[in-house]
Parts: sequence; structure tokens; C-alpha cells
Amino acid sequence: MSDLSLRDGFDHLVGRGVVTDKGTAHSYIQFYEDLLKPYRDQAIHVLEVGVFEGASLALWRDYFPKARITGVDIVPNPNPTPGTDFVMGDCLDPATFSGLPSIDIVIDDATHICENIVATFKVLRPLMNPGGLYVVEDIQDDDTVEQMQALAQFEVHDRRSILGRPDDRLLVWRSDDL
Ligand SMILES: C[S@@+](CC[C@H](N)C(=O)[O-])C[C@H]1O[C@@H](n2cnc3c(N)ncnc32)[C@H](O)[C@@H]1O
Repeated sequence: MSDLSLRDGFDHLVGRGVVTDKGTAHSYIQFYEDLLKPYRDQAIHVLEVGVFEGASLALWRDYFPKARITGVDIVPNPNPTPGTDFVMGDCLDPATFSGLPSIDIVIDDATHICENIVATFKVLRPLMNPGGLYVVEDIQDDDTVEQMQALAQFEVHDRRSILGRPDDRLLVWRSDDL
């Protein structure tokens, strides 16, 4: 699978009934393809908070051949995604992440609530390696943008015109300025 583009990997998973809304309700597949390509063949640690049934973990597993992939969710996952690690816990609680190795790429697809997004970043930022990425999906309000930009140099990726969704917006912080 490792030679497939993220789009082809997504389509392949959809054909197996493994569907993340990153490529259906949201327009994120091409965005992630462009953002993540430089990291693809690196032995990095990718952490996604908020994994639901694991479809996005399967997408990352297929895309990053050398990466360690960890998913965190507050709800147990009875069918863990093969080749990934799953931690059950609240992303607002630092104890959830104790015991994990340092992280290169974080994807926050959990609560989408401003105060939680801010709190999760405060928990995870100290666990990140330099040269990585911190991505927050589904930014619904400008208050979240302002609060996150007050903490770090977050880029805003506004894709709302593509599908007409009011929350098709992402924040990205590059952990160079750790
Ligand atoms: C939008 S779904 C994730 C979808 C998944 N990333 C995908 O692309 O298929 C959001 C998930 O966040 C989880 N969640 C909500 N609050 C959380 C919290 N405080 N800590 C960890 N996970 C949480 C929910 O249980 C749910 O499974």
C-alpha cells in the first residue's frame, strides 16, 4: 500500500467499507497529501486524537510505511486498527499520553470545541519533537483561531468554499519554533 497516493489509499479503504469523513463530508485528502508528503518515508510517530472506529488510523497506517501510529479516543475501540496502537482516554488529561514516545505529527479530530482544542494543545505541545506538525481539524469559529494563534504560530487553511461546509477549516502549527 505504501506506494499509493493518499487519495488512492482513501479510495481503496472506501472500497472495503472503511470510511473516514476526511474525504467525504470534508475536503481534507488533498490537503493532507500536500502537507504530509515530506514525512511519508520517515520513521515518525503520528498521533491522532479522536479516532471513532479507526478509519483514519487505517489511512495513516497505509500512507506511512515506517511510522508508529497511535490513536486516542475516550470511547473504547473493540476493533483496533491492525498495525496501530490504541489508547483509551480523555485527550484533556495528560495521563492519557504518559508512556507514549515523543510525537512528530498530531492530528486533533476529537471534540472540535474551542476550550478543549486549546487544552489539548497545551497537553501535547511539550510532547512534540521539533520539525513536526500539529493539525486541528474542523475549526468552526474564529474564536478558536484567535486563541490558538495566541499560543503558537498556527496557519489557517480555509477550505470552506470547496464543499460549502462551515467547519471545513484546519489549523497547522509547524513545531520548528519549539
Ligand atoms: C469526528 S470523530 C473522529 C473521526 C476519525 N478521526 C475519522 O477520521 O474517522 C471524533 C472522536 O473523538 C472522540 N472524542 C470526543 N471527545 C474526546 C476526548 N475528550 N478525548 C478523546 N477522544 C474524544 C469521540 O469519541 C469520537 O470517536
